[in-house]
Amino acid sequence: MRNLPGASFMAAIAASFISSATTARVDLDWHAPNATAINNLTQVLNGSGVYGFIYNSSTTSAEAYGQYNWCNMPHVRATEYPRASAEFDLQYVELIHRHHKRTVYASNSFPVESYPWNCDDEDLFYYGQPRTGRESARTYWHGYISPENQFVRGFRGSCQFPQITFGGLEDSFQHGKDLYGVYHDLLRFLPHNANDKVNFRVTQNVITSEVGGMVINGMFSTEENYPLYIQPNGYDPLEPTYPCPVSSNLFSAIRSGSNWTSHLTSASPLYATLDNISGVPPDDSGFHASFDHYYDNLSARQCHNKPLPCKIVDGQNSSACVTQDIADNVYRLGNYEYSYIYRDDPRSLAASATSYGVFLGQLTSHIRDVITGKMNVIYRHNVAHDGSISRLLSVLQLDLMVWPGMGSEVVFELYKKKTVSIAGENPSPPSSKSGYYIRVLWRGQILRSSNPSLGLMDMLPVETLLAYLDGLVGSGASLIVGKCSGAIPL
Ligand SMILES: *[C@@H]1O[C@H](CO)[C@@H](O)[C@H](O)[C@H]1NC(C)=O
Ligand SMILES: *[C@@H]1O[C@H](CO)[C@@H](O)[C@H](O)[C@H]1NC(C)=O
Ligand SMILES: *[C@@H]1O[C@H](CO)[C@@H](O)[C@H](O)[C@H]1NC(C)=O
Ligand SMILES: *[C@@H]1O[C@H](CO)[C@@H](O)[C@H](O)[C@H]1NC(C)=O
Ligand SMILES: *[C@@H]1O[C@H](CO)[C@@H](O)[C@H](O)[C@H]1NC(C)=O
Ligand SMILES: *[C@@H]1O[C@H](CO)[C@@H](O)[C@H](O)[C@H]1NC(C)=O
Ligand SMILES: *[C@@H]1O[C@H](CO)[C@@H](O)[C@H](O)[C@H]1NC(C)=O
Ligand SMILES: *[C@@H]1O[C@H](CO)[C@@H](O)[C@H](O)[C@H]1NC(C)=O
Repeated sequence: MRNLPGASFMAAIAASFISSATTARVDLDWHAPNATAINNLTQVLNGSGVYGFIYNSSTTSAEAYGQYNWCNMPHVRATEYPRASAEFDLQYVELIHRHHKRTVYASNSFPVESYPWNCDDEDLFYYGQPRTGRESARTYWHGYISPENQFVRGFRGSCQFPQITFGGLEDSFQHGKDLYGVYHDLLRFLPHNANDKVNFRVTQNVITSEVGGMVINGMFSTEENYPLYIQPNGYDPLEPTYPCPVSSNLFSAIRSGSNWTSHLTSASPLYATLDNISGVPPDDSGFHASFDHYYDNLSARQCHNKPLPCKIVDGQNSSACVTQDIADNVYRLGNYEYSYIYRDDPRSLAASATSYGVFLGQLTSHIRDVITGKMNVIYRHNVAHDGSISRLLSVLQLDLMVWPGMGSEVVFELYKKKTVSIAGENPSPPSSKSGYYIRVLWRGQILRSSNPSLGLMDMLPVETLLAYLDGLVGSGASLIVGKCSGAIPL
């Protein structure tokens, strides 16, 4: 479109609408998510199973695709992709997903593990190389623990805790292949090669780079050198890690109120059983502030076909083991906690909008730059974490919040309607004055927000999304420094 005569004129018209987006009337309030078994504590504590969610394999059967799979969440792929109607032309895609499956974090390990976890089936490359001049040897990390080192707790073995596992690398490759199947093969949108129209971004946590390389090869069949964009340690908006005291205080308040502590108290018999088997001291604050550590500890094993742990007595497995029932209780509580922290508590919206505001401000800048013809990039791909996806879903006010599993993906698609309507010519309320529309996909399907201004996020006038995000974080995240410090009221 930028090459056609009159294009800059049309871009100017569009720009005049998107720059005044803040004046569009949108609802900036928090709205409760749907009431379901996931966020009903009575049902969580008294239930069984995990709503049919998958925890023990990266594979979801063709009929069940779209179902929650902690090991490998559903993403956009050709078989299920909801194609937009022919009157819409895709202009820009910005995608964010959680890294793929990995070992546990060392901090989530039990004091004594009954088996080692080795990663001898893959190498983690790490080296620097001058742009010009000498090349580096392709060096990689080989993990090991010397017998003299008696300090290591938790899993022994050759893995980094964490690292993306062999299976997680395979899932990353397939994820890339599936995306290319839609955005290149089906829609003819992506270029054939990974040129300057596409951009990949990661966080300071190396596991996102481990995923990035496999995704890029899965998409563009390339084993060439390729840049991964990254912002500074301690200030990264993608993870996010920039300091935001107002957000940290809100999240602390959410996680210390009586509704929060009452779920931990109600689950104390479960904690007693888990502590007894794992050897985690009952006063270990990390394991007892939430079910996060036990959830990660058990689910990482199950995603990799490793047995649930037993209590180690005199160096041997005893008969006191974590059963699937116990694990399922932990998984229900984990999903309850994510819904509670990011959606059910009304303070979640401000907590997330402030700590994810810089990323959101970048997103709206990207959208505006596409519309005004200032940006050459048509596809941005961000590899991030559960904390990133949760905050984004919190701000979008997802109707049914869960703990975003491995590979969880949110896609923003920017479309232009084929006939641009000029101001006044098209008065029907849902139409976009600029001619641009947004669609948001979650689990490979159209996301539904509990916020009535967003609703089913299917061809929302772009002005609506811009006004919503500008209202919370300011155009280009202009309000975030002030909101994070408390200088600007929430
Ligand atoms: C949430 O509730 C809305 C309104 O009743 C409904 O349309 C939507 O399908 C529900 N979402 C889910 C995931 O069930
Ligand atoms: C939670 O579930 C219980 C048991 O099914 C039900 O009695 C209660 O009304 C539910 N609470 C809410 C807020 O839906
Ligand atoms: C707990 O579940 C049992 C059987 O599944 C049911 O009989 C009982 O009413 C439930 N209790 C509550 C408080 O929902
Ligand atoms: C995975 O879990 C499901 C549900 O808990 C179970 O039906 C299935 O047999 C399990 N598969 C494997 C390979 O363990
Ligand atoms: C689970 O917790 C135990 C005990 O802290 C630890 O040794 C083990 O490494 C953990 N495993 C995972 C996968 O987090
Ligand atoms: C405990 O059992 C697991 C299998 O369930 C096995 O892999 C492991 O070697 C055993 N550990 C010990 C210390 O016997
Ligand atoms: C606790 O939950 C109840 C029921 O959902 C709600 O009415 C109340 O406001 C909550 N209290 C706090 C402190 O969040
Ligand atoms: C702790 O584990 C032992 C087996 O090693 C068992 O006899 C005991 O009943 C367990 N205690 C609790 C509170 O589960």
